[in-house]
Amino acid sequence: MPLIEVSKLEKTFRIPRHHRGVLGTFRNLVTREYREVRAVDGISFTIQGGEMVACIGPNGAGKSTTIKMLTGILVPSGGEIEVCGLVPHRRRRQIAGRIGVVFGQRTQLWWDLPLVESLDLLGHIYRVPARRFRENLSEFRELLDLGPFLSTPVRQLSLGQRMRGDLAAALLHEPEIVYLDEPTIGLDVVAKHRIRDFLRRINRERGVTILLTTHDVGDIEQLCSRLLIIDHGRLLYDDALEKIRDRFGAERTLVVELADDRDGAEPLTVAHAREVRADGPRRWLRFNRSDTTAADLIASVAGRYRIRDISIDEPEIESIIRHIYEEGI
Ligand SMILES: Nc1ncnc2c1ncn2[C@@H]1O[C@H](COP(=O)(O)OP(=O)(O)OP(=O)(O)O)[C@@H](O)[C@H]1O
Ligand SMILES: [Mg+2]
Repeated sequence: MPLIEVSKLEKTFRIPRHHRGVLGTFRNLVTREYREVRAVDGISFTIQGGEMVACIGPNGAGKSTTIKMLTGILVPSGGEIEVCGLVPHRRRRQIAGRIGVVFGQRTQLWWDLPLVESLDLLGHIYRVPARRFRENLSEFRELLDLGPFLSTPVRQLSLGQRMRGDLAAALLHEPEIVYLDEPTIGLDVVAKHRIRDFLRRINRERGVTILLTTHDVGDIEQLCSRLLIIDHGRLLYDDALEKIRDRFGAERTLVVELADDRDGAEPLTVAHAREVRADGPRRWLRFNRSDTTAADLIASVAGRYRIRDISIDEPEIESIIRHIYEEGI
């Protein structure tokens, strides 16, 4: 039995139409005109216990709306959801005990309380036995390095500190599932690394099922083996991260910096690649993964030209994802 089961899920928001000007104000008062936004438009997927899944998609794709329906905060307009065998919006209390949630853009901590008191309060709300609470807190304190700011009021925490506090808060009651909506947004590279380490660990050691949304390719590559891509409320892709390379990652670009530019504006000629851009000694060579490998291409470029530097243009997954966002699947 899957832990999370989503079938033909829909969410439509009705937004009042606004008319401008004096007459418009009058019209706003007497008519009730709405415009509909289909934020989620028939999404189906299942997630098994112990999986770590990334959900990505352009701004406004419907990711946060989907997460909110999974937590039970929002009621679907259509379709079905079961989480741990329960319908989230009908069983909000039971569900709350079994899931943890982090919204990167908001906090569930109390602004005016020191972090440790917020955590304490959550421990009571979720009725975490005192001993488990102490053990969890001490583990999270170490893994997330909470020590230096445990007694600081939440409003004084930096974004990275607050996010670590929120993570601890989401996991204190030992949920089976954690939903993370942009858990690394706005964080520096060290903080991101720490959070990714922590998530990998609770997934591996505690078997916590993780569904996260992100715009950070690093999160996807370093955390999740499975990827969901949502756009315009529809599921475009649901498969292994690796497979996306095979399906869409045909073209890559090698950037070559020539040691000397004596070759002038002459395009480089190498088998299985074509020069698509030149800027003095820097040349961009596009090639297809089905024709050659980066390693072979580098070898043949190095065999024909004196080169100073060589690199792959951008993280491969990032260019594939950009392509999918721009052109669809
Ligand atoms: N409470 C709401 N009322 C009306 N429209 C909403 C509401 N929440 C979301 N929407 C709309 O639903 C669509 C999906 O929004 P959602 O927040 O789910 O996107 P997202 O994929 O999380 O985007 P982002 O990457 O920017 O966070 C958008 O068009 C948004 O304007
Ligand atoms: Mg969002």
